[in-house]
Amino acid sequence: MKTALGVVVAACVCVHACPKEHHARTHDRHLVRRDGIEVFPPALGHNERILVDSFDTSTLATWSKYYSYRRIVSGEGADANKSVAQWTAGQWAQHGFTTRLEGYYVYLNYPTHRALQLKNSNGSTHVVSLEEDVLESDETTSFPDRIPAFHGYSGSGNASAGYVYVGQGSQADFNRLKTLGVELEGKIALAKYGGPFRGIKVKNAQDFGMIGAVVFTDPGDDRNMTEANGYAAYPKGPARNPSSIQRGGVPFISTYPGDPTTPGYPSKEDSPRMEKKNTPTIPSLPLSWIEAQPLLRALNGHGIDAKRVNRTKWIGAIPNVDYNSGPAPGTTLSLSNIMEDRTGWIWNTIGIINGTHEDEVVIVGNHHDAWMIGGAADPHSGSAILIELAKAFGKLLKTGWKPRRTIVLASWDAEEYGLVGSTEWVEEYIPWLKKAAVSYLNIDVGVSGTIPDFSASPDLHLLTTSTARKIVWPHGENQTIYSVWAEKAGEIDNLGAQSDYTAFVHRGGIAAIDLGTTRAPLDPIYHTHSNYDSYHWMTTYADPGFVMHKAIGQFLALMLYHLVDDASLPLEPANYGVEMRAYLKGLESKIAPVNSTARLDLTQLKDAIATFETAAQNFNELRASTTPNDFEHVTQLNHKARDFSRGFISQGGLPGRVFYQNLIFAPGIDTGYAPVSFPGITEAVQAGDFALAKEYVGKTARAILAAADELKSEEARPELV
Ligand SMILES: *[C@@H]1O[C@H](CO)[C@@H](O)[C@H](O)[C@H]1NC(C)=O
Ligand SMILES: *[C@@H]1O[C@H](CO)[C@@H](O)[C@H](O)[C@H]1NC(C)=O
Ligand SMILES: *[C@@H]1O[C@H](CO)[C@@H](O)[C@H](O)[C@H]1NC(C)=O
Ligand SMILES: *[C@@H]1O[C@H](CO)[C@@H](O)[C@H](O)[C@H]1NC(C)=O
Ligand SMILES: *[C@@H]1O[C@H](CO)[C@@H](O)[C@H](O)[C@H]1NC(C)=O
Ligand SMILES: *[C@@H]1O[C@H](CO)[C@@H](O)[C@H](O)[C@H]1NC(C)=O
Ligand SMILES: *[C@@H]1O[C@H](CO)[C@@H](O)[C@H](O)[C@H]1NC(C)=O
Ligand SMILES: *[C@@H]1O[C@H](CO)[C@@H](O)[C@H](O)[C@H]1NC(C)=O
Ligand SMILES: [Zn+2]
Repeated sequence: MKTALGVVVAACVCVHACPKEHHARTHDRHLVRRDGIEVFPPALGHNERILVDSFDTSTLATWSKYYSYRRIVSGEGADANKSVAQWTAGQWAQHGFTTRLEGYYVYLNYPTHRALQLKNSNGSTHVVSLEEDVLESDETTSFPDRIPAFHGYSGSGNASAGYVYVGQGSQADFNRLKTLGVELEGKIALAKYGGPFRGIKVKNAQDFGMIGAVVFTDPGDDRNMTEANGYAAYPKGPARNPSSIQRGGVPFISTYPGDPTTPGYPSKEDSPRMEKKNTPTIPSLPLSWIEAQPLLRALNGHGIDAKRVNRTKWIGAIPNVDYNSGPAPGTTLSLSNIMEDRTGWIWNTIGIINGTHEDEVVIVGNHHDAWMIGGAADPHSGSAILIELAKAFGKLLKTGWKPRRTIVLASWDAEEYGLVGSTEWVEEYIPWLKKAAVSYLNIDVGVSGTIPDFSASPDLHLLTTSTARKIVWPHGENQTIYSVWAEKAGEIDNLGAQSDYTAFVHRGGIAAIDLGTTRAPLDPIYHTHSNYDSYHWMTTYADPGFVMHKAIGQFLALMLYHLVDDASLPLEPANYGVEMRAYLKGLESKIAPVNSTARLDLTQLKDAIATFETAAQNFNELRASTTPNDFEHVTQLNHKARDFSRGFISQGGLPGRVFYQNLIFAPGIDTGYAPVSFPGITEAVQAGDFALAKEYVGKTARAILAAADELKSEEARPELV
């Protein structure tokens, strides 16, 4: 789920289903650009060359077409169609992977009736279309079994009331409206996409007493690529098709991902079921901008005007719309969204190649469920790349190579509803994963624009940039992934909750990366979760010839290769020290404006970071002085590099959201997608709760010390009492 809307860089949450909503870059993100002399073409080792040369644009196109021409939505019901999961297993098996399907029995829902009607104050009514246009040139948009536009895990019901425009639907937006005296209770919320994850918008509306929500796409988030700037709309050109609708899940992702009826444990057929607490009770629907226009226009001149509301990103770019709050007297919406509960099977495909060290495992995954017949970007740019990656490793195996560490490939199901397949899997295997997982590599929206885009835990930054230097980028002259990234992005983001890495990072404390590409301002519009994320769009506008698919796949293959093959594990614990320093600065600058220095003492946190830095430095010295054939010590050091980040999840998790146990970063409680660093402290400060902030200074410091302890040599480690 990656969304290309919004501010700066998109990534995919596919829960986000995957549109990675862009989040604004914040000052606490550390710049990772490292300059150096570029050699072109990059020099590769023998095995690296075999892997890289194996990637083939024509087979990538074949896999992309296979996946993008069929319906692979979750929520189909009790006997979910496993044909795609089986086909994927068959492909991987051809290249030497031992494969199996792993099913979970999960709660999902699916619409049986949807309708939206506007009633004007003069009594006239207007039926709002919930369909995307069928396009002659893009054949999958007309497939009869195409998927309706809806919100997965939406509440079921009818709502009929006046409505209020609520901007991006953040808590701050709602609070502002309340302060301005706008009546929210009993009304329907009209929110634009962008900013918080859509499920958080619906949650906020519900928390403020509203009875339904409509979430629309706004061309104001399309940056320079707009019809207003003279570009033709898809399919004639690269600008947004006005009828495009962003489907998507609406769980409360920043509280709990996965099956909402089995929080914290895997969904087996006979698992006990809890009452759902992390999905909305009010109905909601997604809408295109062209259909949202009359709804917004009817609010012109009513309620509070946009200037006075004065909220970030409040004003969009829909013509003839003033973005007033409303409500407008006598103007109402009738929203109907009847959802049927469908508890049933979902299927993850798992493929394994055993390494010689079975207690060291690297997992590579993407999801295979999609919001439309299509999904050429989300998720099938990733799905196609995974088959090609399996093929590349198959070639290496044929030379007699055997990985030092075990490789696990995963194709997750039901990511789009709320990271369900991956979360249930992590919940099932968490004891083993915490012992053995070296890293989790996620590819979801592998290609949606022309800028390479990485989010990763700090210990994977160096491997990311060094690998990026080895891959030729297909656009520009003599460019590598690194050179393009350094020029156009230059930062590696933290991990929030945008895709299937979530449970690995936040529950398991496992090193992880999410990788792909994102849009530049003039790149073709990526129609997130719309029928227009299609094979036709991919081959016409986004990646004709599949050349970026190839480069991103080669990058992923080399990341995986070094993680499973290098004698000394290429993880850099010391970079956590560098990053945590930057987060500390960010935290201090957040505290300064509220002048809470007197009330919140960060000394304990600073001391813990210093202790960690010393431990990491000692670790580096020890690693540098250990000879590769000193097997016992190399293994000991590798295990420390694998395990130290489990320390960050040692202190019982975040307030009110026990699933999120990582105290270094978490998805923001009110963003859902975008990460927050030192979340226990930061969010308590933002809420003005300094007693809680103080408690989390202690917990966070202890978590950092636990990680530092893991890194210390056996001799130097204090006895655990
Ligand atoms: C399952 O999906 C495949 C193709 O994706 C289709 O050919 C088959 O008819 C489907 N089976 C059922 C029972 O719907
Ligand atoms: C009622 O109001 C709507 C919206 O302003 C307008 O489009 C429509 O023409 C009006 N109908 C009548 C009968 O006046
Ligand atoms: C909801 O509204 C639809 C009209 O859109 C109507 O057909 C249906 O009966 C209503 N359902 C309930 C439960 O009120
Ligand atoms: C995009 O638009 C902005 C403002 O309209 C302009 O400053 C910028 O140069 C444009 N960027 C590109 C790549 O055209
Ligand atoms: C809008 O809000 C900002 C701070 O949030 C403030 O500095 C500015 O003066 C406000 N503008 C208006 C017109 O109220
Ligand atoms: C891989 O290792 C596991 C665990 O030791 C074992 O059960 C399995 O049979 C092995 N698979 C292959 C193909 O060797
Ligand atoms: C690109 O690389 C080739 C081969 O190394 C070299 O001959 C050529 O001059 C380079 N072009 C640029 C613009 O650097
Ligand atoms: C912040 O609070 C402290 C202690 O109450 C006080 O001494 C200091 O002057 C305040 N600083 C500012 C900038 O208001
Ligand atoms: Zn996705």
